[in-house]
Amino acid sequence: MKGKTIVLGVCGGIAAYKAAALCSKLTQAGAKVHVVMTESATKLVGPVTFQALSHEAVRVDTFDELDPGVISHIDLADRADAVVVAPATANMLAKMATGIADDMLSTILLATTAPVFAAPAMNVHMYGHPATQANLAVLRERGVEFIEPGVGQLACGYVGKGRMEEPEKIVEFLKERFAAMETPRPLSGKKVLVTAGGTVERLDPVRYFTNDSSGKMGFALAEAARDHGAEVTLIAARVSEPLPAGVQVVRVTSALDMEEAVLSRYADADLVIKAAAVADYRPAETAPQKIKKTGDTLQVTLVKNPDILEELGRRKDRQFLIGFAAETDGLEKHAMDKLHRKNCDLVVGNDVSREAAGFGTDTNIVTVFDKEGPVLELPVLSKRETAERILRLAEERMSAGERAADACGGRV
Ligand code: CTP
Repeated sequence: MKGKTIVLGVCGGIAAYKAAALCSKLTQAGAKVHVVMTESATKLVGPVTFQALSHEAVRVDTFDELDPGVISHIDLADRADAVVVAPATANMLAKMATGIADDMLSTILLATTAPVFAAPAMNVHMYGHPATQANLAVLRERGVEFIEPGVGQLACGYVGKGRMEEPEKIVEFLKERFAAMETPRPLSGKKVLVTAGGTVERLDPVRYFTNDSSGKMGFALAEAARDHGAEVTLIAARVSEPLPAGVQVVRVTSALDMEEAVLSRYADADLVIKAAAVADYRPAETAPQKIKKTGDTLQVTLVKNPDILEELGRRKDRQFLIGFAAETDGLEKHAMDKLHRKNCDLVVGNDVSREAAGFGTDTNIVTVFDKEGPVLELPVLSKRETAERILRLAEERMSAGERAADACGGRV
C-alpha cells in the first residue's frame, strides 16, 4: 500500500461508519487516502472524521475547488492508483452503471482510468433487486471488482446478504490486488481469446439442444490470463456462472454465432483457448412456431456444425492455439487425434467421467498434450489453479517460440 494514492468514495449507507475504520487502516498501511463523500454520507458521518483520519481535505461538492491550479475531480481521478467505493449504495451502483455524474464521487468514477473496487452495502431486498443485480453485472463486465457483502444482521433489522465487508478484509483484498498488479505480467501486451460455455442450438422458439458445460473452466482461464496482464476477450455461450470481471465479454448463442465471433477476432489474437463445448450438430431447421405434438415419435434432422477449432488450426499463422478434449474413454488417443487434426499447439484433455473433473465441478483433473504426447499431468486442482498451470506452460512455449523467431530474424 505504501505510496499508493487511493480515492475512498463514501456513500450514504449506514456502513459509512465502517468507512472511517477503512480510511484509518489504509492510511496506517501507508496509502495516501483522499476521501470523497456523497452529500448523504455527510448526514451519517461528519467529513471532519475522515479529514482527521486521512490527514487530507475531504471532498463533497464538485465545485468546491480547493486548488485553483487544477480541476479537482479530474486531478483526483488522474492521480488515483485505485478508487475504492465503500460503502457502495444501490444508488451509486446505479449511477456508475448508467454513467451518471451528478456529484463529486460519481464524476470521479466516470473520469478515472484507475481500477475501481466497490464494497456494496444495503438492505437485502435492495441487493437482490433485479435492477441492482443488473447494475452489478454491467459493472463487473466493465471491470469493476466487487468486495462481496457478507450475510448477517443488517442495520434495517433484516438478516441476509448486504452487510459491507469488514474493513480489515477490504484492506487485505486491496493488498492482494495491488500485489497482483505489480508482479511481472507474462502476458502483458498480448491479446487472448477464450471461449467458454455450451452452445445452444435452437429447435423452435421454446426448445433447444445444449450440453452440461457451466463455463467455469473457460472463466478460470480468462481470469488467469487477465491477471497475467493480457487483454482478454471472452466469448461466452450458455453459462451458469457469473461472468468474470476485467475481461471483454461477447455473448453468443449457437456454434454459428461463436464461429463468427471467434473468426472475426482471430487475426489480432496471440493466444486462443477453445474451452467451449461446441455442439457438433444443430437442427437442420429452426421452426418459426412452437412444434406441436403430432404422433408417438418425432424425428429431428441434425446437420453438422462447423468445427471452429479445426478452422482456426487451418488459418493459424502466429497464434498459439489450445484446444480441449473432454472424453469419457481413451483420453490420450482422442486428445492426440484432436491435436493433430485441429493443428493445435496444446490440447487439454480431461476424463469427464471422473468425479472431480469436468462439467459443473469446481475442480478438474487434466493432462496437457503437445505434438509429442503428454507434457503436463496435473492432480485434482481447483479450476483456477488448473488454469494457472495451463497458462504457465503456454507462456513458456510462446516465449520459446518468440526467441526462436528472433534468432532467425523473423517468425518461425
Ligand atoms: N470444437 C470446436 N467446434 C466444434 C466442435 C469442437 O471448436 N464444432 C472445439 C472445442 O471447443 C474443443 C475441441 O474442439 O476445444 C474438442 O471438442 P470435442 O467436442 O471434444 O471434439 P470433437 O472434434 O467434436 O470430437 P468428438 O465430439 O467426436 O469427440
